[in-house]
Amino acid sequence: MSIQPSTKPISLQTIRNHKAKGEKFAALTSYEATISSMMCDAGVEIILVGDSLGMVIQGHDSTVPVSMEDILYHLRCVKSGNKGAHLMADMPFMSYATEQLAYENATRLMQAGANSVKVEGGEVILKTTELLSQRGIPVCAHMGLTPQSINRIGGFFVQGRDPSSHSKMIDEAKSLENAGAELLLLECIPIDLTKKITDALSIPTIGIGAGAYTDGQIMVVHDLLGVSCLEKPPKFIKNFLEDNNSIAGALTAYVNAVKFSEFPAQEHWFE
Ligand code: KIV
Repeated sequence: MSIQPSTKPISLQTIRNHKAKGEKFAALTSYEATISSMMCDAGVEIILVGDSLGMVIQGHDSTVPVSMEDILYHLRCVKSGNKGAHLMADMPFMSYATEQLAYENATRLMQAGANSVKVEGGEVILKTTELLSQRGIPVCAHMGLTPQSINRIGGFFVQGRDPSSHSKMIDEAKSLENAGAELLLLECIPIDLTKKITDALSIPTIGIGAGAYTDGQIMVVHDLLGVSCLEKPPKFIKNFLEDNNSIAGALTAYVNAVKFSEFPAQEHWFE
């Protein structure tokens, strides 16, 4: 059996309904029109215009150099190809450092076609989350490995390895939900922590390198297609082009693997 792509635009309510029914949903990053259109045909429900574009498109060694203009340009490209997926746009480094900046920059993204914005952090983004969501801007909070803080963290390491950090992270996730976050993205954390956080929330969670317990999964599209300059790709990614002889086939295989809980498998998560 294969998944039939939705013919209706995907709203946050569609995503909430998936969670309520225990149905997984598939998300991907995209930066341009043609692949976005193919993602919709394959049944991808959330497309993220991620600041990962700083690494995979612009060739930087982090997401820190990405600007609002960069995200806006790629958001417009993705919007041109979108056929109804929920469009999420990353708020780049320092674009939400003050309340005023957060209002102005989130407004620009929504007016350019985003359906929600993604913001990195836990406690530090509580006020921003509350302010934006009260003004009708849906927020996806991003916890765990937060790449915009890479210079403080010191590398792309798994977060939350120490069990003593878990209760703080669970409390932060709950506070984000109470502040109005509509979604929570969890990046590179051990699977037991993912389960504890997902179980503690009523909003849908999306995982990358966080194991099988999130309500949805997301991948950087370059990783899915095996396009990488890295000598050793991280363990949480899977090249779906390898066993499928077309990009369309790889996208469909990813969506099916997520929906049928075949991806991520144990080899892709951190214990
Ligand atoms: O920018 C990005 O690609 C991300 C990933 C974690 C999906 O935020």
